[in-house]
Formats: sequence, structure tokens, C-alpha cells
Amino acid sequence: MAKIVVTGGCGYIGSHTIIDLVENGYEVICIDNNSRSHAAALDAVQKITGKKVQQYKIDLCNYEDTCAVFEEHTDISGVIHFAAYKAVGESVDQPLLYFENNLFSLINLLKCVDEYGVSHFVFSSSCTVYGNPDKIPVTEQTPIKMAESPYGSTKQISEQIIQDYAKNSAAEHILLRYFNPAGAHPSALIGELPLGKPQNLVPAITQTAIGKLEKLWVHGNDYPTRDGSCIRDYIHVCDLAHAHTLALGYLEQERNKESCEIFNLGTGNGNTVLEAITAFEKVSGQALNYEIGPRRSGDVIAIYANKDKAQEVLGWETKFKLEDIMATAWKWEQELKAGKTVFN
Ligand code: WQD
Repeated sequence: MAKIVVTGGCGYIGSHTIIDLVENGYEVICIDNNSRSHAAALDAVQKITGKKVQQYKIDLCNYEDTCAVFEEHTDISGVIHFAAYKAVGESVDQPLLYFENNLFSLINLLKCVDEYGVSHFVFSSSCTVYGNPDKIPVTEQTPIKMAESPYGSTKQISEQIIQDYAKNSAAEHILLRYFNPAGAHPSALIGELPLGKPQNLVPAITQTAIGKLEKLWVHGNDYPTRDGSCIRDYIHVCDLAHAHTLALGYLEQERNKESCEIFNLGTGNGNTVLEAITAFEKVSGQALNYEIGPRRSGDVIAIYANKDKAQEVLGWETKFKLEDIMATAWKWEQELKAGKTVFN
């Protein structure tokens, strides 16, 4: 049973990935300082999988503390690195906080990978690296554009650091570029818990429907798209989680051709904001209180993935459709309101 370190394992994508790893026979150790997450996420993981995952509540920006985990577990074969700050607006206000947190933690982890002979490293990247692409769908070869925010810059710089590091490292690396992760585990025992007012569309929709937000503002309907609203590739968090398990397996079987490979993780379908709202209304059976507002600055007009590489090389298939994303996110929001989760 391979032993894997998951950083940011109490976060949204990290916790869903731990579930998938445990269900596929991995032993997982979580590093998370809970600065932007809840330790209770691991209780939910235990409820779902029956396994208790050990957590180290340490800050990855502290090199000695990070080393201590690898000192204690000398048989760690892989690291999946999710831990990072991810609020676009906050990164504009506090760029140094973002560079310091997201880059120092990565560098410390890579130093540990080297020092403790870890074989595999999987990094949580983002389609944000493509900026406003000239051509869609985007492939892994689509040129990187200037980042729209310091948060986006940290993802681009992190990718560059890992690519440079990989050239001279004994470990093998994968960069996973997520499109728009959304939805919740079908058990509704775990899901997304936005801090403060949600910036992302799906939690903004469900919080509006449950009454936490008064109304949903659609950020612009005058874009050159089929209904004027922006196009994104919404990918279910459980599909995304499973891609990490496949990525590790790919490295373990030594099927990678390069020391650092990149995969897009999206469904390959683009949906507009208004289509997402319609999908929600259909599965919830209720009309959403929304209004068309002005454009949001920095928004990309339209982006969705070419997912051929992940499909052909990793054997990754997406199981959840847009309606499933909305249905699971809605069930999770309702369970939260009913106080039926370990997060209440
Ligand atoms: C989706 C669409 C909004 C809220 C973010 C990050 C990016 C990446 C993916 C991780 C847009 C519209 C939203 C609302 C709306 N994350 N919207 N009303 O902008 O694609 O990207 O997640 O790396 O870095 O910035 O996702 O969910 O914020 O927005 O109309 O209340 O929904 O304008 O068109 P986005 P999002």
C-alpha cells in the first residue's frame, strides 16, 4: 500500500481526492494548517471511507516542520500538493501574501521530495494559466498568457519552478490544470465550504437558492457567446479527484515519457452562466432569483478543455454531467442548512 502525502487535504478538492485515494487502496497522510480549511473534513472522509486519515497541522512555509513529517514517515512514495491560497480578489489586495505562501510552501516541499527520495509529485494547477485564449478548446500546448491576478501568477510560477526542478530531480512530476471544479460528494457528507461570500458560480447559485444570498448577479450578458454570458468547463469534484489517483498510478507504472507532464482536467464541454442556472433550476425544481449585472473585471470570455490527453493517456473518463454537479451541490447546501454535516 503506497503512502501518499496530500497537502491541503482538508480543503475542497484535497478532501475529495483523499476519499478517492483511500478507496483505491492508498495510505494517506494529510498536511494542512487549517488556515483556510476545516479539520472536520477528515471526519467526513472517515464517515465515507471508514478510514481515519492522520493530519499534521503544520505550515508548509516552515521547512523544519515540513521535514519532520518526512523524517517520521520514511516510506512516502508520492506527494499531491493542493495547499495554497486561491482567492483571486484577495491576491490582488495582498500579492506578497500570495507569493510568500504559495511559493515558499512549494519550494519547501520540493526540497523534501529531493532530500527524502520521494518518487512522485502531483501539482494542483489551473486553467487560469491560459488567460483569455485565442482558440478554444485549449490543449496542453495552448500558449500561456499573462496571468490576470497574483493568484494566477503563483500558479504559472509554480509550474515553472516544478518544470525546472524536474529536469534535475530523481522524482517524476505531473501538473494537473483544473477547469472549474464544482459539485459535492454524492453522499452530501462533504462539499465546498466557501470562506465568506462565494466568488465562484456554483456555490453562489446554491447559497442564493437556500437564502444565504439575496440574489445571484450574472456578471455580464453582452459577451460574444451564444447567450452573451461567459463560457466555462464545470468539472465535478469527484471526477477531478479520481484523475489524481490515475495520475499517481501512471507515474508508479513508469508510463510517463517526460519528468514533468501536463494534463488538462475538464469535461471538454463549455457551458454559459445562463445554462448553468437553467441546469440548477431543472434539478432543484425551483426558480433562481438572479439578475444581469455588469461584467466582472478580469473575467475570461470563454474557455473549455480539450481533455483528449487525460482521456487517452491516463484513461480518465468523466462520469458527472452539469446537472449532476448542480444536484450534488444543491443536496450538500441543503444538508449544511439542516445541520446534518460534521461541519455544523
Ligand atoms: C464562472 C463564471 C463569472 C459568480 C475561477 C478562478 C480561476 C480558477 C477557476 C482555480 C464567470 C460567473 C460567477 C457570480 C457570475 N480557479 N459568475 N456570478 O472565473 O472561471 O475562475 O475558478 O484556479 O483561477 O478565478 O470561476 O466560478 O468565479 O466564475 O455570473 O456570482 O460565472 O463571471 O463567467 P472563474 P467563477
